[in-house]
Amino acid sequence: MGLMDNTPLGITGSTGRLGGRVARKLADAGRSQRLLVRDPSRAPQLAGATAVQSSYADRKAVTAALDGLRTVLMVSASESPDRMSQHRAFIDAAAAAGVQQVVYISFYGAAPDCTFTLGRDHFATEEYLRASGMGFTFLRDNLYADFFPAMVGEDGVIRGPAAQGRVAAVAQDDIADAAVAVLLDPEAHAGATYSLTGPEALTLDEVAAVLTGAKGRPVAYQPETVPEAYASRAVYAAPDWQVDAWVSTYTAIAAGELAGVTGDIETLTGRPAMSLADLLRGAGSAY
Ligand SMILES: NC(=O)c1ccc[n+]([C@@H]2O[C@H](COP(=O)([O-])OP(=O)(O)OC[C@H]3O[C@@H](n4cnc5c(N)ncnc54)[C@H](OP(=O)(O)O)[C@@H]3O)[C@@H](O)[C@H]2O)c1
Repeated sequence: MGLMDNTPLGITGSTGRLGGRVARKLADAGRSQRLLVRDPSRAPQLAGATAVQSSYADRKAVTAALDGLRTVLMVSASESPDRMSQHRAFIDAAAAAGVQQVVYISFYGAAPDCTFTLGRDHFATEEYLRASGMGFTFLRDNLYADFFPAMVGEDGVIRGPAAQGRVAAVAQDDIADAAVAVLLDPEAHAGATYSLTGPEALTLDEVAAVLTGAKGRPVAYQPETVPEAYASRAVYAAPDWQVDAWVSTYTAIAAGELAGVTGDIETLTGRPAMSLADLLRGAGSAY
């Protein structure tokens, strides 16, 4: 349908960081959108955008919200024990509504046995979408580079069992630009999987050095053993699945599973991916 298509795009997650960026950029591009939000009072006010209430688990509301739409951006739901069933409900509802293509925000290296525990849910979601009969595009994001400052403890130390592994973290703004490129011409990307990374794969020592330069206060990386990582996070009294997710972010880095740099950001956006130093110097991180 290309440039003449006036059917709104269905956009989830617009009250959040990544989906919010996508929605703003689509509005700037003059594209009409229907924003699927849990709380319409928090929806961004954007030209050409209307907000409708629905949460992923509410099949009826999602089916109604997606009625008549062809293409939908599905931001992965917030971490929760029943995230997969929420994703399945959303996908079932999209298929029932007649959606033709779902652009899904997945995770780098998603696989049934990947070290990062939540990457397994992303793989299961991809498989469910493949089986849905709808078209799909998977944007497999590496760790958000925006998130690094939040990994630094109050004492200026990043602690985790990442050993000297490397991570090709990617800026959310680049992911948003890539998503917009796909959403503006979805048919060109039907069936494609893109692995979105930054331009370099850094050890956490190198990340700490970049953060030190940007923040003007020393940041250091202190590798932990896996038992030390569980012990240092016990203070949060979080459920096991959540602590497993936190710790396996680091063990995935140690295993080399987040290390491979791709050119997919540049392929989709026409510009090289932002480095961590550029991100911290420029608009700043989303977190
Ligand atoms: N690659 C990485 O390093 C990384 C790191 C963190 C998270 N993630 C994943 O990436 C996603 C986007 O990141 P972000 O920074 O934009 O997160 P965020 O700021 O927390 O935004 C998440 C968005 O998704 C919406 N949402 C979550 N669960 C939903 C549900 N069950 N039904 C309907 N809407 C739902 C939220 O709506 P509300 O405003 O109503 O809550 C919000 O708009 C996250 O949700 C998470 O799955 C990836």
